Amino acid sequence: MRVALAFLVSMLASAGFIAAYQLDAGTQWLSLTLAAALGSLGAGLAWWSRRLMPHESSEEGRPILVPPAEEGRETAETFQAGRRAIRRRGLLGGLLAAALGALGLGTVWPARSLGPAPSSGLRQTGWREGVYLVDERGNRIASDTLDFGGVVTVFPEGRDPRADDQVVLIRIPLEDLDLPEGRANWTPEGYVAYSKVCTHAGCPVGLYQNVGYLLLCPCHQATFDVVRGAIPVFGPAPRELPQLPLAVDDAGLLLAAGDFSGPVGPDRWRLGEAGDAGV
Ligand code: FES
Repeated sequence: MRVALAFLVSMLASAGFIAAYQLDAGTQWLSLTLAAALGSLGAGLAWWSRRLMPHESSEEGRPILVPPAEEGRETAETFQAGRRAIRRRGLLGGLLAAALGALGLGTVWPARSLGPAPSSGLRQTGWREGVYLVDERGNRIASDTLDFGGVVTVFPEGRDPRADDQVVLIRIPLEDLDLPEGRANWTPEGYVAYSKVCTHAGCPVGLYQNVGYLLLCPCHQATFDVVRGAIPVFGPAPRELPQLPLAVDDAGLLLAAGDFSGPVGPDRWRLGEAGDAGV
């Protein structure tokens, strides 16, 4: 009885796991239901295996070839009892199969969240050659907006703010910059611009320390060296912040000279592709 009960509890807990996942009930409910499903399934198997194993040794003598009537009756009773046990075993076997099936369904259910592979759209942002930099109020950024050591968050003009468009703009004396090859003309008048989305887990990299020219992510303390292409020098970030090439127009306004040097945000979106510029 308790074996059947354990398998039933396991099935119900697996159904609860699927429901908790579907309703986005939180990791506590997911953990509880999965633990209940696995625990009750294990308990049921353990109880069942104990019942199947003989617990005493016995010896049967064989001197009498023709059993007396009494023994024949006992044999018939034992046989009937065995048939009942076999029928019960069939029921338990069915319950075990159902519990395993429910558990299997519950564990593959989250695979539905994987969805289609991210497309190349993740590699494009709102930045293009000729797009002006604007502040959060939509004002264009002039080349005299910041003093050396100043920092401001900017966005591409004419586009609703999106997380992967955010750029941290910093002004640094040109002679202090030591950027990767090919980026010499990306920093007019000392303006250097990087994606504000941390390459570790996507937090906004908003803390700037002018002494040492470091950008810090508040989530897990990733630290990026601004003068050397925002390479990570501390913490869990796996690669540098993508850099935005800049230019200044005839009116002294800052604009983008292209899109970022690499994909924005956490590294998992790269999906093993090689050869990204600046990566
Ligand atoms: S998200 Fe920036 S360090 Fe983790």
